[in-house]
Amino acid sequence: MKSSRIPGFYKMTVEERLEKVAEFAGLDEEDKGLILGKALQLDVADRMIENVIGTFELPMGIATNFLIDGKDYLIPMVIEEASVVAAASNAAKMARAKGGFFTSATPPIMIAQVQVTKLNDPYGAKMEILRHKDEIIAKANEQDPVLVELGGGCRDIEVRVIDTFRGPNVIVHLLVDVRDAMGANAVNTMAEAVAPLIERITGGKVYLRIISNLAVYRLARAKAVFDKEAIGGEEVVEGIMEAYAFAKADPFRCATHNKGIMNGVSAVVIATGNDFRAVEAGAHAYAAMGGYKPLTTYEVNKEGDLVGTIELPVAVGVIGGATRVNPLAKIALKILGVKTAEELSRVIAAVGLAQNFAALRALATEGIQRGHMELHARNIAMMVGAVGEEVDKVAEVLVKERKVRMDRAKEVLVEIRAGKR
Ligand code: MEV
Repeated sequence: MKSSRIPGFYKMTVEERLEKVAEFAGLDEEDKGLILGKALQLDVADRMIENVIGTFELPMGIATNFLIDGKDYLIPMVIEEASVVAAASNAAKMARAKGGFFTSATPPIMIAQVQVTKLNDPYGAKMEILRHKDEIIAKANEQDPVLVELGGGCRDIEVRVIDTFRGPNVIVHLLVDVRDAMGANAVNTMAEAVAPLIERITGGKVYLRIISNLAVYRLARAKAVFDKEAIGGEEVVEGIMEAYAFAKADPFRCATHNKGIMNGVSAVVIATGNDFRAVEAGAHAYAAMGGYKPLTTYEVNKEGDLVGTIELPVAVGVIGGATRVNPLAKIALKILGVKTAEELSRVIAAVGLAQNFAALRALATEGIQRGHMELHARNIAMMVGAVGEEVDKVAEVLVKERKVRMDRAKEVLVEIRAGKR
């Protein structure tokens, strides 16, 4: 069976790493060429957004070691921040001792909102809307026969009466199973299509007809048991529990705690060409329901091991939008080997948990600066011309001396080459 454990992956050259990933994921020469070259052509970019003048690049890294529901995954991550990919890989390695990540997800139900205003009898209107539920659902489903054929479509409606400073609104939610799409287009089309019908039924005036990014019916969950010995012993378990308690009690800390989760989540969302603002809005709004809280939980089980969990809305697709237009997004999905949007959402949840665990472990022990410094030192070493094993040797000295600077790196490199080190 294919394994995502690739010892020494981080020490390989870019080309060697790509070769490993290609073997794992069955990438062909064209895929490899696209990854190394310029994948997003200007004519394609010009059709994606308006007023295009070029394209913009970010590094794509691969997180290794992920074992999710018994299957090995290599995880493409697109991000500008150092240490994120290494931290995720490290956490995933530690999780393997107890079987990796175990995940689940709800069906891919998205919400579209229709705002009905100018009603004297909002509760009466609510009853009328519910009485015409089948008609509204049928109208919504007429808009997307392909989705219905694929087993998706509008499943149900919810009606809420809310108070606004301009008076009561009746808010209709279309609950739409969007299958393997992110779903924004499908649900927005449905919301616009049912609006005249809802106006007729209620006598009110509809204004907004748009998706809600608070995708509470499209949740992904993951759990991992982190063996206490594998993560550094009881002290580390204690430290992580203290960090979690801090985040639970303090919104200032909690924002950073959740930001760390999104480091992993967004990196995969971006790599797969998905709408990272939608996922981020959903995650933070979900965390804020009933008082802002961490998206993860931590407990210590009977054996003294750390049990971590995560639950968050993950509205991502594997068809449509940039997932199919940007060639690199297509290749990222190939590397992941995910077949459905549901599987992708579960992988993303696992990455979010891994990322958070890694951050808390670092923060509760030596802090994160050392790791950052190591990467930075490697960059500096390469900038002064170190190659191969020299890179690690130079970096080690710079970190040990706490002098991560070009001038010192040059001196150390000269010493190494003269055999003085
Ligand atoms: C940095 O991008 C993310 C962390 O700040 C997350 C955290 O504090 O939990 C390290």
